[in-house]
Parts: sequence; structure tokens; C-alpha cells
Amino acid sequence: MSANLDWGSLGFGYIKTPYRYVSNFKDGKWDDGCLTEDDKIVMSECAGVLQYAQTVFEGLKAYTTVDGRIVTFRPDLNAERMFESAERLEMPPFPKERFLEAVDKVVAANKDYVPPYGSGATLYLRPYMFGSSEVIGVKPAKDYQFRLFATPVGPYFKGGAKPITIRVSDYDRAAPKGTGHIKAGLNYAMSLHAIVDAHENGFDENMYLDPATRTYVEETGGANFIFVTKDKKIVTPKSDSILPSITRRSLCCVAEKYLGLTVEHRPVKFSEIKDFAECGLCGTAAVISPVGKIYDHGKEICLPAGMDKMGEVTKQLYDTLTGIQMGRLEAPEGWIREIK
Ligand code: PLP
Ligand code: COI
Repeated sequence: MSANLDWGSLGFGYIKTPYRYVSNFKDGKWDDGCLTEDDKIVMSECAGVLQYAQTVFEGLKAYTTVDGRIVTFRPDLNAERMFESAERLEMPPFPKERFLEAVDKVVAANKDYVPPYGSGATLYLRPYMFGSSEVIGVKPAKDYQFRLFATPVGPYFKGGAKPITIRVSDYDRAAPKGTGHIKAGLNYAMSLHAIVDAHENGFDENMYLDPATRTYVEETGGANFIFVTKDKKIVTPKSDSILPSITRRSLCCVAEKYLGLTVEHRPVKFSEIKDFAECGLCGTAAVISPVGKIYDHGKEICLPAGMDKMGEVTKQLYDTLTGIQMGRLEAPEGWIREIK
């Protein structure tokens, strides 16, 4: 029976669900792993994650489709990205097949918390792993824990499809050869001051520029950019220091294959933005959130799509992507994994 939640009014917050998955890496191998009702973690005060932030994570969602199935969207790509994130932080990668098994198990065990079709909410899944054994000299931990929990969520930005206002940040998100391309907790810790400051000043998010030259667009704290030109071409920034968003890669494919649009994935100069027709933030949490205004040190760039509603092409992309996720449209081979 569906949990008794007011699905339509959920924000993007944590609500404890009954089951999560845990597996431990000890003596050089991952154990069998299991579901547990225990949401607490007990570890050494000197654990690698606590001292040197040795932790990586993922984010994906489970959806109820129009015909009542429960599905996840391209979880294999999350498994792959988490594998690569772990390698970059000298952690033993969690096997990709095991990752998929953990996703299936947690969603099935918490199926009453998968929001109903049409409610506007989804079940957000948060896989993560961290160094759990003692580390005091700077080095990788010996032992690790992988966990995956689920929490029902609504829109990431209040107002859902309403265009947001962002500002160009004076802070950098990631160094040119740093960790911007992986999903490490440390990338988010360093963005906290910038996001609190942005909110205090009335902005919804920060636009980070490339740290080396500050002339190219990178991404925001939690999403990639997608731009639409006045002649309806899709342009997405290319950089080695941004997270390779699964949503962005999927949208580029949707734009070409479903909407017949041309897609350019290339470095995007900040100075080009004033010529674009639409701008959106894309990610698992953000889906596609339209950007109406970009504030740059006293100057405002107002996207022609305006502040009232999503631009025309952004809306087409949004409808097609969510149509695929919710089973209204046929998905490309391998994009949808049904939970039995
Ligand atoms: N960029 C950053 C920094 C993110 O945290 C996220 C969220 O996962 C994204 C982009 C979007 O990636 P995805 O579409 O895979 O969720
Ligand atoms: C996601 O979209 O899954 C993320 O991890 C972004 C985070 C800022 C919530």
C-alpha cells in the first residue's frame, strides 16, 4: 500500500524510508551486502571519510510509469560513474552489477514510497561509499562501506518549472586537473559557502566559470547547462572539470533522435550567453530547470524565453525526457530498468 504522504507538496528533502542497502569492504574484498532497517552508521572517530573526505556518491531516481510499473532510468551509467569516481579517490570500486542489484533491492523494498504516476514526485536514490577505517597520515583507508538509501522528493528548485535566477560565482568549483569530473563529496563541501551566499543575495544557484581563464561556462553546483540558440540548436559546455551529467547526455540524444535538433557539445564562452534564446540546468535532481536571468557583477543577462515559463525548446526536451522516464514514450534500448 502506498505510503501516506502528500506527494504533491514534497520538496527536495530527506524523508526516511524503511530499507537501505549496506555492503562493507574489509580484508581486500566486498562482503555479500544486505538490506537493513538501520539508518545509523557507527565508525571510528578517525575514519578516512571524517578526516580527509574520502567519499563519493551518486543520484538517480525511480519512477512509477503511466501503466503502473516501477522503473529506474539508466542506472548502469550511475554504476559506471561511481566506479570511476571511486578509482580517482583511491577507493575500491563497487562492482557495477552489485550496484544495479542494490538499486533494484532498495526500490523493491521501499516500493510503497515510490510516488504515484502524475504526482510530480519521484523516489530519489542516493548510493554512496566512504573510507570507514582509521587514517591519520594522508593516505587511503583500508576499509570502506557502500550504502544506498531512498527518499521521496519533489522539485529541486521551489516553483518547479518556473525560471530561476542565477549569478556568476566569484568562487571556483573545480581545478582544471582536479576532481570536478567525478562525484566526490569534497566538490560539494567547497560549494556550500558559495550557495549560502547566493541564496542570501536572492539567487537560486551559482554559475561557475572555468577556473583557469574565467571566460568559459562550466556548470552549477549540482547541474550541467544546456543552451538553445535562436535557430534552435542545442549547445552544451564541454570541459574536463565538469560532471558528465547523465541527464545532459540523455537530453542531447533526445534532442537529436526525437526532436531532430542539432547538438553541439563544445567549450562555451561566457560572452556567447547573451546571444542564446534559452538556458536550462539539467541533472537528476534538477531534471531541466529553466534559467530566466543570469546576474554578472551588476549586469543582467535576461534570456529571451523570459521569467514566466519554460522556453519552447526546453519544454519539448522536458516533455520528451520525462515522457520516456514515465513510460509515455518509447525509450531507446537499455534506458529503462524495470523493478520487479
Ligand atoms: N553536475 C553536478 C555538479 C551534479 O552534482 C549533478 C548531479 O548529479 C549533475 C551535474 C547532473 O548529473 P546527472 O544528470 O547525472 O544527475
Ligand atoms: C543529483 O542531481 O542527483 C545530484 O546529486 C545533485 C545534488 C546537488 C542534489
